[in-house]
Amino acid sequence: MPHSSANPLEPALEALLSEAREAAQHSYSPYSNFRVGAALKLTNGSVVTGTNVENVSYGLTICAERSALVSAVSQFGPEIRIEAVAVANLNGAASPPCGACRQMLSEFILPDAPVVFPAADGIRTMPFSAILPLAFDMKLK
Ligand code: THU
Repeated sequence: MPHSSANPLEPALEALLSEAREAAQHSYSPYSNFRVGAALKLTNGSVVTGTNVENVSYGLTICAERSALVSAVSQFGPEIRIEAVAVANLNGAASPPCGACRQMLSEFILPDAPVVFPAADGIRTMPFSAILPLAFDMKLK
């Protein structure tokens, strides 16, 4: 890490990316036709996936990453920790996680967790802290 498309992705992350691609098959995206999937590897060994679910009111749309996140918390509870993330789309486009999803992930993800996503120059891997260096955090005492 950081990985660029010039060198191969390590097998565990390649497998996570495949799960993200599979999740994208379930996308409900009749308004954008942009089919996204996300896969979260948890420190408990589980992989939880999600896809984007759109709505006719557009703004209510939920991204694949947040879909996966709420599913992971719903299944395993608030103590989950994310150790790797993969994002894929079936449109052959770049799709790094959006800002809202980065902020949501920040509550549960390990700072060094690799995030694998399609970028303009191919599949990229970056540590979470590099894609969201200054997450909002009230640092409650
Ligand atoms: N989308 C995601 O699922 N993840 C992102 O990080 C950005 C965008 C979805 C939302 C919408 O359904 C479609 O992609 C086009 O914006």
